[in-house]
Amino acid sequence: MNQLIFHGHATFEIVTADRTRLLVDPFLTNNPQATVGPEHFHDQLDYVLLTHGHFDHVEDAWSLLEKTGAMLISSVEISAYAGTVLGHERAHGMSIGGGYEFPFGHVKMTSAPHGGRLDAEGGEGYTCTPGGFLLRLGESQLYIAGDTALTLDMQLLENKVDIAVLPIGDNFTMGPEDAAHAARMIKPRTVIPCHYGSWPEIEQDPEYFRSLVEPRSDVLVMSPGDTHEFK
Ligand code: NI
Ligand code: MN
Repeated sequence: MNQLIFHGHATFEIVTADRTRLLVDPFLTNNPQATVGPEHFHDQLDYVLLTHGHFDHVEDAWSLLEKTGAMLISSVEISAYAGTVLGHERAHGMSIGGGYEFPFGHVKMTSAPHGGRLDAEGGEGYTCTPGGFLLRLGESQLYIAGDTALTLDMQLLENKVDIAVLPIGDNFTMGPEDAAHAARMIKPRTVIPCHYGSWPEIEQDPEYFRSLVEPRSDVLVMSPGDTHEFK
């Protein structure tokens, strides 16, 4: 079984069936929802995936890359930043629409209308195109939308996703209604809401989101530290 572990806001840990450990958008130190700090990953971290460069997605990425030697998977621009400014050569740059077969599974970057600033020391020249990730892990397709508006591009994911992780916070990303619309287009088996409740501007009731989505898809509301197992 693969494991998807929520660490609050938009930070997800993935442990694959063969025990490869991935961390998506590590925001732990100043994440008001996180129940673990970056040291939780120091014993083993194989990959860090970054959807885009905002601080609430990359805060702990740089120190974790340095401490663990993990490989970075992100946009070409953020990967270039890691190599050039941080001297972290283990970085795999991708662009929206491109896919690549990694030892743990297939990764495709999906489009995500959002902002492209890179919040990192010396990162001012490295604006990125924000994205999401479509991951094939074992028998499942996991879609981590990233910070995104509702976009018709999501129609292209129709029936291709088993588990969809969608932001519902509004203000910076889709709100509950738009995320429910996205779920109707994508038709995943399970929807996991994220990117809400961390600050007053993105306060949302996940049960309201559930009422908009079910019964077409199941809504799984995860609390920080919760694990969801999937094949
Ligand atoms: Ni963002
Ligand atoms: Mn964000």
